[in-house]
Amino acid sequence: MSKTNQHDLVKVYRQATSAVQSLNNPARRGTLFQGDCTKLLDAMPSNSVDLVVTSPPYCIGKEYEKGWDLDRFKQLHQTILPAATRVLKDGGSLCWEVGYHVKDGVTTPLDFLIFEIASKIPGLKLRNRIVWSYEHGLHGVRRFSGRHETILWFTKGDNYYFDLDPVRVRQKYPGKTHYKGPKAGQPSGNPLGKNPSDVWAHIPNVKAKHVEKTSHPCQFPIALAEQLVLSLSPEEGLVLDPFSGVASTGAAALRNTRKFIGAELSSDYCTIAEERLVGALDGTLKVRELETPIAQPDPRSKVATAPSHFAAARAEPSPEGAPAFHQGIPATSLNDVSAQVTSSQAQ
Ligand SMILES: C[S@@+](CC[C@H](N)C(=O)[O-])C[C@H]1O[C@@H](n2cnc3c(N)ncnc32)[C@H](O)[C@@H]1O
Repeated sequence: MSKTNQHDLVKVYRQATSAVQSLNNPARRGTLFQGDCTKLLDAMPSNSVDLVVTSPPYCIGKEYEKGWDLDRFKQLHQTILPAATRVLKDGGSLCWEVGYHVKDGVTTPLDFLIFEIASKIPGLKLRNRIVWSYEHGLHGVRRFSGRHETILWFTKGDNYYFDLDPVRVRQKYPGKTHYKGPKAGQPSGNPLGKNPSDVWAHIPNVKAKHVEKTSHPCQFPIALAEQLVLSLSPEEGLVLDPFSGVASTGAAALRNTRKFIGAELSSDYCTIAEERLVGALDGTLKVRELETPIAQPDPRSKVATAPSHFAAARAEPSPEGAPAFHQGIPATSLNDVSAQVTSSQAQ
């Protein structure tokens, strides 16, 4: 892709109005505004966006949220949620991905705060509270280790875009048949697969060795956004992420023939985001595809083999050839590492 081409397709702006005007360029696929998302939202016309997918700062002390507290989180959302709803088309969707704020050992589910505000916005209706679970993160000591976050999916109105087919998953028992009625004995499942449900346990979070990892401390996986882009927006639709980070939502949009506009305060993240969007278009961006199976350790590898003292600690007979680490062992016997904050943003 030549330089000129690239800037026609993807560009970063420092003026919100210029960013919004650039959407009229028919060649444009991805637009980034480097600045405060409230400015971008104010500059955007009403009813212009098909889908919003975002993950706001969680106020857990990342460099972009120093000094934040829950009151600031609530204040920000009192402004952002109505503004994002205004720019959303009737029938469009708004997906807010959040985890937990933990301070002094006390946990606040951030989606409770989002729901409290969003449910008062006329026309906005919650369709699902999706649980995204993953296997890795910090280990808790005085509470269970956090291994899930949630996505609140709202629609603007009742007549909303929803296409299950691109995100269907293989049935466990595809050979099931109707057991009574005129179709008795015939296959009962959808040949394209079944509804993926509101629990998504097949998408690993972005830790150090993930192929998508950048210098951003809390990017979410492209596959997570891709599930939402594919099911909740039409081809050529416009997808918005007001807290776009390194544009994981944008990459999901551009890889699937949607357009993208995002806002991000940090110029460093915008630079990475721009590169990733170009890579999403020319196919060079490294992505962990949705259908990639969750890695299983080789049972003979050192990392999957319990050290000999584990067996003694568990009062098991023989340390030799002890099986891989099990779930269900009492935490008190395992010398877990201390951590107070657990979430995908707490990496
Ligand atoms: C949780 S991260 C989002 C990461 C993103 N989902 C990704 O995968 O790259 C939140 C981002 O919001 C940005 N941010 C915080 N306040 C903002 C604001 N008022 N306007 C625009 N961006 C903001 C932060 O710099 C941070 O990169």
